[in-house]
Amino acid sequence: MSAFYVQNSPSFSRIESPGLHFDHPQSFRLISFSSQFSNLSLRSLETSTKQQRTSLVVRAVKNIDQMEFDTTLSPRVNSLKPSKTVAITDQATALVQAGVPVIRLAAGEPDFDTPAVIVEAGVNAIRDGYTRYTPNAGTLELRSAICHKLKEENGLSYSPDQIVVSNGAKQCITQAVLAVCSPGDEVIIPAPFWVSYPEMARLADATPVILPTNISENFLLDPKLLESKLTDKSRLLILCSPSNPTGSVYPRELLEQIAAIVAKHPRLLVLSDEIYEHIIYAPATHTSFASLPGMWDRTLTVNGFSKAFAMTGWRLGYIAGPKHFVSACNKIQSQFTSGASSISQKAAVAALGLGFAGGEAVSTMVKAFQERRDFLVKSFGELDGVKISEPKGAFYLFVDFSCYYGSKADGFGLIQDSESLCRYLLDEGQVALVPGDAFGDDTCIRISYAASLSTLQAAVENIKKALTALKPAVPA
Ligand SMILES: Cc1ncc(COP(=O)(O)O)c(C=O)c1O
Repeated sequence: MSAFYVQNSPSFSRIESPGLHFDHPQSFRLISFSSQFSNLSLRSLETSTKQQRTSLVVRAVKNIDQMEFDTTLSPRVNSLKPSKTVAITDQATALVQAGVPVIRLAAGEPDFDTPAVIVEAGVNAIRDGYTRYTPNAGTLELRSAICHKLKEENGLSYSPDQIVVSNGAKQCITQAVLAVCSPGDEVIIPAPFWVSYPEMARLADATPVILPTNISENFLLDPKLLESKLTDKSRLLILCSPSNPTGSVYPRELLEQIAAIVAKHPRLLVLSDEIYEHIIYAPATHTSFASLPGMWDRTLTVNGFSKAFAMTGWRLGYIAGPKHFVSACNKIQSQFTSGASSISQKAAVAALGLGFAGGEAVSTMVKAFQERRDFLVKSFGELDGVKISEPKGAFYLFVDFSCYYGSKADGFGLIQDSESLCRYLLDEGQVALVPGDAFGDDTCIRISYAASLSTLQAAVENIKKALTALKPAVPA
């Protein structure tokens, strides 16, 4: 445990939360970090006091993450990291607006327009005055269409009262974590992970337990490692297939091995994030975890419209699971946001009406993603020392560029990790990418290929040129 004394703030009183402990002995305040922050090696501590507001900025030595402990805010929000993907996308957008020709490959959204049939349904909903509150869990029309989809495409039987529609899959996952986790529970998350999972666990005062995977194993979770890390505190295992950020797809046999382990831990639930389900490249196939023998009762299946149907701005996702858990999510939603947009729900019914796996509209997009994936895998595969696991789904390539760590660039300095390499590639190559450390793997960088082939060709050229300019660091 690390402890720091700083000058007293008159507004301060005792604050505690799991992993964070603030105390107030007389004129000094003790701030200590327990195991949740044990990997933080503190390099600097700054304080600023404005009108009884004291905030501390703590930097981790390994990267430039900043965790700001603002004593006027709740310990819960202080324990959260902001989303790095959102931050980098915003930074790149600001550069573009300032006239810098940055190629943006950081965002997690398809570059395609929402298919016309879906747009029409949304426009018609507005014209027809379908603009009022819907039932909290979503319209019966949409929930029935989701049940039909889950039956036909995933072999899963649900009734409409086992479905809750929310403002994006992100809300579904957050609500599910809040609904099932108690303070101190462990949320098991294989790394690389989608940036939000650990933060969602922290929001619920649960402890994220990160299980590393290996690029040589296609970033798939080793069942033996899983088994060795489960305890009676383990409450939720989050699986994401196809995966953001790696594009890995869990084969059915591996999911069966994981299911056999889950079966031995009656308190453990699985949240299966299947939002990239339709963006999958043959011969890979998608298996819904809930469809495995004995797993329906133990699984919360999350899916949404953002990725496959290019509907990120429509904000619509859903969760399916045993009524007991889904009703709890519904209860949270009823006091939080109420039902999702009536217009988007009409559009989503049209999306599900496009046919099996989104029909031709979706398969056309998937074909384009596959062509881009092939181009990137080939292009980066030509670089000595760079490691790639060919993605089987989603629209991201998670490339191990760690062979460049330790090099220097003129006018930039040392490249020591994924963060500094991304900053260098933004400065020098004018390409915005996301450092792997945001996803729990500092050896890699995430490249989103939700961009045209010509944009990707320009990006590869810029990245390769910038990497060629790097020189091995001369030891001091
Ligand atoms: C793995 C994963 N799950 C869930 C989401 C949330 O999607 P949305 O809230 O747009 O439905 C995303 C978005 O980036 C994602 O990558």
